[in-house]
Amino acid sequence: MSRFWSDLTRRLTPYVPGEQPRHQRLVKLNTNEAPYPPSPRVLAAVQATDGDSLRRYPDPESTELRQAMAAYYGLVEDQVFVGNGSDEVLAHVFQGLLKQDQPLLFPDISYSFYPVWCDLYGVDFVQIPLRGDFTVDVTAYQRPNGGIILPNPNAPTGMVLELAHIRRLLDANPDRVVVIDEAYIDFGGDSAVALINDYDNLLVVQTLSKSRALAGLRVGMAFGQAHLIEGLQRIKNSFNSYPLDAVAQRAVIASLADEDWFQSCRRKVIATRERLHRGLEALGFTVLPSTANFVLATPGAGRDAGAIFRALREQGIVVRYFNKPRISDYLRITVGTDEQCDALLEALPPLLS
Ligand SMILES: Cc1ncc(COP(=O)(O)O)c(C=O)c1O
Repeated sequence: MSRFWSDLTRRLTPYVPGEQPRHQRLVKLNTNEAPYPPSPRVLAAVQATDGDSLRRYPDPESTELRQAMAAYYGLVEDQVFVGNGSDEVLAHVFQGLLKQDQPLLFPDISYSFYPVWCDLYGVDFVQIPLRGDFTVDVTAYQRPNGGIILPNPNAPTGMVLELAHIRRLLDANPDRVVVIDEAYIDFGGDSAVALINDYDNLLVVQTLSKSRALAGLRVGMAFGQAHLIEGLQRIKNSFNSYPLDAVAQRAVIASLADEDWFQSCRRKVIATRERLHRGLEALGFTVLPSTANFVLATPGAGRDAGAIFRALREQGIVVRYFNKPRISDYLRITVGTDEQCDALLEALPPLLS
């Protein structure tokens, strides 16, 4: 606390990201990073960076990158927005599209950054409870609102909502923006990108941090009709004209060009997720059906998820524990390599008695 802080600075409760340990060798299953490296083509593009491209400012509009993304996703360039991680993209979305005269709606259990942006930008919001089985009840969103945002698959449940339900939300709210945050869509489920030309109120946000193993590069994107993207560009150009550096722009183009690498990494993660799911069930956990690169699992009655989280941490295995209503009995476990998941499954039995 300092006397120089503004009222807003004093009032904020900032988002706390999962731990990024600096020195220890840990089995790190806490922030949903990819367990495999990015395509070698990405590393070659980074290494090929020359002094001139660092001396100059990068292309403020990331034109080549947006063209490559548009071609990859079957869109056109002015339907693509890019930013410094999807967290930055989402921050612009909250400020530029979701701050309206009615409250924003999102699930009571969802990405815990959403209420933080609401506080930062003064966005009124209402959290809509998931059903008892953690599914999204789209009928509960039939109420006055200034917009809707849903992660799909949801985080931290990992559960996916079918496109037919997303269509219902879009149809029921023609004058509100519906944002689908698809950080984990590459691990299962159908992307709402396919609906963009049908709905002028749909914005889809994605990231290269998870399925493309580029969390360290910080690149996220939003897809939507040109009028929505133009709104985001206005916010971006009033905040930071150069959100993506020259290295990131080249590296992402290289990543998109290596489809085989991408498919093989995501297939491995999906296979390990199913193995982890079965392994946890065999230990007595109840595991939510995940289409993401993590699972949310509860060790069951009489077992303290927080204590298990701490005991695992002492053994150098880091998972995520949210001490929050409805999920305080659960652990969120990122799908690592088979070896990392085996290390977790072997460490658990003595902690469950
Ligand atoms: C649902 C969801 N959206 C967005 C993000 C942000 O990802 P990034 O800023 O790395 O693109 C995350 C990160 O964990 C997430 O879980």
